[in-house]
Amino acid sequence: MKDALTIIQERASVRAYTPQSVTEGQIEILLRAAMAAPSSKNKQPWRFMVVRQALARNELALALPYAGMLADAPLAIVVCGDTGIHTGESANSWVMDCAAATENLLLAAQALDLGAVWTGVYPYADRMQCVKRLLRLPEQVEPLNIVAVGHPARPARPKDKWDPAKVWYL
Ligand SMILES: Cc1cc2nc3c(=O)[nH]c(=O)nc-3n(C[C@H](O)[C@H](O)[C@H](O)COP(=O)(O)O)c2cc1C
Repeated sequence: MKDALTIIQERASVRAYTPQSVTEGQIEILLRAAMAAPSSKNKQPWRFMVVRQALARNELALALPYAGMLADAPLAIVVCGDTGIHTGESANSWVMDCAAATENLLLAAQALDLGAVWTGVYPYADRMQCVKRLLRLPEQVEPLNIVAVGHPARPARPKDKWDPAKVWYL
């Protein structure tokens, strides 16, 4: 197993996959990594829908503007937040908690030599409504994103994003 820093630097969005499926064991590793993320007040508002059905993936691919790869990926994981968990001033914390869970999931996919990409749903009201309807999500559960997962059709090409000009020191 590669070390954490190598996995972080080698991760890149993967949008083309082989037909090979993702195993039950791999799915559990991805979800365990997601649920290991930090969470405001440790409330863990994340919910996950594991979509293996081709019909559902095709519908999502057609409904979302930049998520065509969901039709070809053997697996899609819809990262959702229960919006009833964080209340008051911290009501939006589900977004940060679920984003942290998503990054963990993406890194776990990289560690397993899988390829994955975050496709955006939140904050676009039309996309959120559409995903909720297609997947019959409960009223208070909102989709943040859909992560397409599969075996990369070709090696991922990580971008070098290091930019010291974006850092201030005191
Ligand atoms: C909030 C968010 C929304 C994104 N939405 C999409 C999307 O809808 N479709 C897509 O192909 N990639 C999407 N991406 C992936 C980005 O395009 C990608 O992370 C970015 O280009 C940097 O490339 P890298 O992931 O290979 O480092 C999204 C990423 C984030 C964080």
